[in-house]
Amino acid sequence: MIAPSLLSADFARLAEEARRVADADWLHFDVMDAHFVPNLTFGLPVMQAVQAVSPVPLDCHLMIEAPERWAPDYAEAGARNVTVHAEACTDPRAVARDIRAAGALAGLALKPGTPLEDHLDVLPDFDTLLVMTVEPGFGGQEFMAEVLPKVRRARELVDTGHLTVLVEVDGGINADTIEAAAAAGADVFVAGSAVYGAEDPSRAIAGLRAQAAAALVG
Ligand code: DX5
Ligand code: ZN
Repeated sequence: MIAPSLLSADFARLAEEARRVADADWLHFDVMDAHFVPNLTFGLPVMQAVQAVSPVPLDCHLMIEAPERWAPDYAEAGARNVTVHAEACTDPRAVARDIRAAGALAGLALKPGTPLEDHLDVLPDFDTLLVMTVEPGFGGQEFMAEVLPKVRRARELVDTGHLTVLVEVDGGINADTIEAAAAAGADVFVAGSAVYGAEDPSRAIAGLRAQAAAALVG
């Protein structure tokens, strides 16, 4: 699955920008609060406005402190998936329960330096695992290949029946890096600059999808 990140879109034309990626699987919506990460983007009212016009389901990535305060609202507003950061949660299982009760898939995100093993106990309550392949906060950063063992380990746990999550990668995914991420076992690929920075976002999505599929076969 390919999830273009609206973070790299033109914020003055969000409706048009959402429609430009109609053949994506999910539209990734990066919420930042200038506290959990040193950047500020958009919040619930903007998400609701985008949700109303987006041709594809929204994948909300909450890079905020105290995500339990807001996560259920994004689910209620119609997001397909709502992801919170493990580093920001005091009770991740309660957040997952609230997100699911509000009708969305629940996601847990890990920063590059956060070990998967520290959060294995709560992952059975989640539907997606977002492995950050850059430090959260900004688009256009370089992919951190050193995080790939974490993706591989997650894939292994899913394939052996120990976990049931979609494995999502986010940060620096482009034509040069998607094959490595796919070979490591990712299911969902977030791509900001690689899609919105392209002249033809549809072609960029198709190209990334084909590369990921080929890496799985090869
Ligand atoms: C970074 C965000 C990413 C970002 C990815 O904190 O979570 O979703 O938009 O952008 P690229 O694909 O440009 O690295
Ligand atoms: Zn993101």
